Amino acid sequence: MSVSEQTESEPAQPEPTQPGHAQPARREPTPTEAAPYSATPRRRIRTLDLQRAKREGRRWAMLTSYDQYTAALFERSGVEALLVGDSAANNVFGHDTTLPVTVDELIPLARAVTRATSRAIVIADLPFGSYEVSPEQAATTAIRFMKEAEVHAVKLEGGTRMADRVRAVVDAGIPVMAHVGFTPQSEHALGGYKVQGRGDAAQQLLDDAKAVVEAGAFAVVLEMVPAELAARVTAEVPVPTVGIGAGASCDAQVLVWQDMAGLRTGPVPRFVKRYANLDQVLGDAVRAYVSDVASGAFPESERDFS
Ligand code: KIV
Repeated sequence: MSVSEQTESEPAQPEPTQPGHAQPARREPTPTEAAPYSATPRRRIRTLDLQRAKREGRRWAMLTSYDQYTAALFERSGVEALLVGDSAANNVFGHDTTLPVTVDELIPLARAVTRATSRAIVIADLPFGSYEVSPEQAATTAIRFMKEAEVHAVKLEGGTRMADRVRAVVDAGIPVMAHVGFTPQSEHALGGYKVQGRGDAAQQLLDDAKAVVEAGAFAVVLEMVPAELAARVTAEVPVPTVGIGAGASCDAQVLVWQDMAGLRTGPVPRFVKRYANLDQVLGDAVRAYVSDVASGAFPESERDFS
């Protein structure tokens, strides 16, 4: 945020002595920035607000976030829910799948997102291997995220087969977002990135969604599910559905931010809409900087200290 963008109520920040090491200015969104919020008011959004939005027919947006700057920017731009996804494996740590990321790697990212925000609800993924073994393991891992990252809810993958894990976490007082359809942590078992719930598999997917809701999930992600089936699930479960490749009938939508902002290059899944070309924007800035350093155009004399 430049000084000229600061509102009257915000004191100017002291000049940072270590670029990139100063505390970022934390601020409330201006009324204009806050306007896009559909799910609620000027306080931290809760699961009940998201459920009320469904009852009132208001859709809300979720984006992944793995760091303080995107978290604050997305919140200021009206995103109601931030997901510290295990997709950090691919988008932060450079793995090919979500499987390798660990609890110890995700917790610091989740903590940064929570600390940088005051309104968006922050949900952390339970990574692969941190909840499948038993309901006790699921509750223990979820408690770590609540205590160490201060997130507001956790997400875990799986339908009927994971219902007892959802129940155990909910019984510990922790809101759970479930995730059915294509579940990336099971990509090897599912035989790759494939649409789920086609044909005869539709009933199983519906049963999976109902099982996790019955177990206490406050919302359900539907990933790569035929639009018609997602519409049916959305109509038949009382909690919000969050679509990713599941059509427009879902109560909410989620995308990985590097996909929607065009920071990731190369082919993206068909359900991704690119709203910007950050690869180009950032690349142009960096190329200009490199060129200025080479030519001596940067730093200019006005940046010198006497
Ligand atoms: O980790 C993630 O980004 C996700 C979304 C794709 C829903 O689980």
